[in-house]
Amino acid sequence: MVPTKKNIFAGNDPFEIARRWYFEASETELNDPDAVALATVDERGLPNVRMVLMRFILDDAFVFFTNYESVKAAEILSSGKAAFVYHWKSLRRQIRVRGEVSKEDLNLSDKYFGERSKQSRYGAWASKQSKPLFDKNVLFERIEKIKVELGNNPLRPDFWGGFKLIPTEIEFWADGEYRLHDRFRWSRPDIAKEWEVNRLYP
Ligand SMILES: Cc1cc2nc3c(=O)[nH]c(=O)nc-3n(C[C@H](O)[C@H](O)[C@H](O)COP(=O)(O)O)c2cc1C
Repeated sequence: MVPTKKNIFAGNDPFEIARRWYFEASETELNDPDAVALATVDERGLPNVRMVLMRFILDDAFVFFTNYESVKAAEILSSGKAAFVYHWKSLRRQIRVRGEVSKEDLNLSDKYFGERSKQSRYGAWASKQSKPLFDKNVLFERIEKIKVELGNNPLRPDFWGGFKLIPTEIEFWADGEYRLHDRFRWSRPDIAKEWEVNRLYP
């Protein structure tokens, strides 16, 4: 039996509900309404978590951008899986997402990279993300060198781009009085199957 989903939980498409919540959060959060904690696991099964900005909620996937040689990228590329959570304090809501991750087809990466400020683009070129940096001046020197080499319009480096996460689970959570919160979990056995929706105990 399908549980009754009203008000903020209403809808037949979890991506549409996620976009609706995100737009509400854009009006109320102090900053970075698209910030999520992204969890991956290393080869030993040890979890790892860090914040990233979830830049796009597409019709079938969530997309974020990073360095393809970073720790998170290595963990994603070896497991093919990740999870993340949005938490919006101003709304007292969270969205939890788990699923399969692969490199974005790079059209969006080129477009998104092109829209970033020039300084951020030089920064992306210069950063060997997650590698040891002995002195910050080394980074500044790399940026100056890259400015000379790449000129005024640096294009996206091959080692930088998007990942898209296609969920098998999306859970919408909203704070309730006396900790009697509302939770609706959308789940499917794999990404080709239909969603099943369950209300969960808080
Ligand atoms: C609010 C916030 C947003 C961030 N957004 C991104 C992002 O979109 N992409 C990214 O690569 N790192 C982002 N970072 C930095 C990451 O948290 C992390 O330090 C970095 O990506 C290295 O992670 P890794 O060693 O696990 O690969 C963000 C940090 C914060 C605090």
